[in-house]
Amino acid sequence: MSVAIDLKGKKAIVFGIANDKSIAWHIAKRLNDAGCRIAAGYQERVEQLFLPLMKELNNPVYAKCDVVDDAQMDSFFKKIQEDFGEFDFLIHSIAFAKREHLQGKFMDVDKRGYQVAHEVSAYSLIELARRAMPMLKKNGSIIAMTYLGSEKAVPGYNIMGVAKAALESCVRYLACDLGEKKIRVNAISAGPIATLAASGIANFPEMLLNYVAKAPLKRNITADEVADCALFLCSDLSKAITGQVIFVDAGYNIMGI
Ligand SMILES: NC(=O)c1ccc[n+]([C@@H]2O[C@H](COP(=O)([O-])OP(=O)(O)OC[C@H]3O[C@@H](n4cnc5c(N)ncnc54)[C@H](O)[C@@H]3O)[C@@H](O)[C@H]2O)c1
Repeated sequence: MSVAIDLKGKKAIVFGIANDKSIAWHIAKRLNDAGCRIAAGYQERVEQLFLPLMKELNNPVYAKCDVVDDAQMDSFFKKIQEDFGEFDFLIHSIAFAKREHLQGKFMDVDKRGYQVAHEVSAYSLIELARRAMPMLKKNGSIIAMTYLGSEKAVPGYNIMGVAKAALESCVRYLACDLGEKKIRVNAISAGPIATLAASGIANFPEMLLNYVAKAPLKRNITADEVADCALFLCSDLSKAITGQVIFVDAGYNIMGI
């Protein structure tokens, strides 16, 4: 039996498109190609590479939305209410930590560095979900992006690992809160992919090599494969799945050595 996933008539808000390498971009394209209309929130600093991408989507809505800027979030959600209306899916593909905290010793992170990583990479999921709630439809799906550094110590990933642990816990608590509204909340734990965010991690090239050497499938993964999982998590095929962290990592996480 083959099942085509058709999202015609559905709408998604996607956060985290910086350029054509972004995981969020691959997810937006995949959902768009399945018939879903896309709204995107972006950071001003990525505008030059972000805007041309919008031409590749069918009738998108987009506006600046820095998650540490309350005024931008207010005006983004006002635009969504006026120009987009109720929607079905929220994709959170946002993370940030200061470059100096993604190298060297984990214990050298300072209080502000700890706070920034958590505010942008974990707390923002709660705030975006809360702001989305009046417009997020029954049977909706929220998806966040995470990494194995949340549960294992990955040298160089450092404070981002702690923020991802918080993010995954937020996924479980939000799933618990929103289940009665039939809204599902899950995270995809992706293997390493060369993106702008990944370029800030000091040991990133070694991480890629390590996956080829040790993952059961003996390879790295692609952003398109993450997008496939996101499409599944937006579809009715996953309607009994919530509060989960789903690995798209060529199986790397199961290995003991
Ligand atoms: N690339 C990987 O290897 C990998 C692996 C697992 C998980 N992830 C996660 O995937 C997600 C997307 O990262 P990516 O690899 O596609 O890199 P990316 O750099 O393309 O995307 C990160 C996005 O976060 C956005 N962002 C950062 N601070 C923000 C803020 N204050 N307000 C709004 N947006 C902000 C950036 O504008 C950018 O679009 C992140 O959560 C990342 O941790 C990435």
